[in-house]
Amino acid sequence: HRHLLGIEALRPDEIVTLLDLADRYVALGRQQEKHASLLTGRTQINMFFETSTRTQASFELAGKRMGADVMSMAMQASSIKKGETLIDTALTLNAMHPDLLIVRHPHSGAVALLAQKVNCAVINAGDGRHEHPTQALLDALTIRRRKGRLHRLTVAICGDIAHSRVARSNILLLHKLENRVRLVGPPTLLPSGIEDFGVEVTHDMREGLADADVVMMLRLQKERMDGGFIPSEREYYHRYGLDAEKLAHAKEDAIVMHPGPMNRGVEIDGTLADDINRSVIQEQVEMGVAVRMAAMDLLARNLRARPTEVMA
Ligand code: CP
Repeated sequence: HRHLLGIEALRPDEIVTLLDLADRYVALGRQQEKHASLLTGRTQINMFFETSTRTQASFELAGKRMGADVMSMAMQASSIKKGETLIDTALTLNAMHPDLLIVRHPHSGAVALLAQKVNCAVINAGDGRHEHPTQALLDALTIRRRKGRLHRLTVAICGDIAHSRVARSNILLLHKLENRVRLVGPPTLLPSGIEDFGVEVTHDMREGLADADVVMMLRLQKERMDGGFIPSEREYYHRYGLDAEKLAHAKEDAIVMHPGPMNRGVEIDGTLADDINRSVIQEQVEMGVAVRMAAMDLLARNLRARPTEVMA
């Protein structure tokens, strides 16, 4: 692949190859910078048109650990504010010959459109409610390390499915690797026709969590509910917020996940989120750097030759 735009385009064996490589980067730990110079002399530009803490920081760290020159654009302070279009901004940066563009954008499909206009590798860091492939990959790595496998697991994905690119990418990945995926949420937050993705759907948390190996909570994305129904936080927490009582319906050793940023007391009880015996939320963040290194490592093999290589 030249780009990483979504899980949809990946084969199961490609997902496993990437996770195996990410596992190697985890094993190298902080020593990895001594071993990984795959991106030395390469330029990586991060373009985040939406806020980010985890994704942007981990792409920046991953690039630096692999020797890339990394630049994170402050998009709020860019010429977008003067009316420049996404494509014009991308073409402008493309003219400076970067090797990698990491892009987050509020509109579904915007990153794929941009990838058609530039001649460098593009990684989707989240586009609207469409896909967030590196999040699904880091979630998969976390699950595989904790459960010892990534097939035939029952994974409950709970909450605001309708607005979630994280849910979509995770559903695609977990389904490709033959896991049982159960979606749990209020009817207003479950997209119609979602059953076509090969998932089970329920509106009841206790039913949805029954015998689950993994409980993945999602953020209530009020910023995407333009004009639509917004549930009251108190009512939402009562019905769909994860607490110890609801978690008791899952397997005894079920792990609790959340991609962040997290609304404590809305979709998850704060004490449970901090319980290191159940919650792997910090581990998900840790896996993010390794997964992004692996993704860039694999894409780097297809990057165009550096000028010095052409001259040699
Ligand atoms: N999980 C995730 O994408 O977090 P950020 O929005 O902080 O990058």
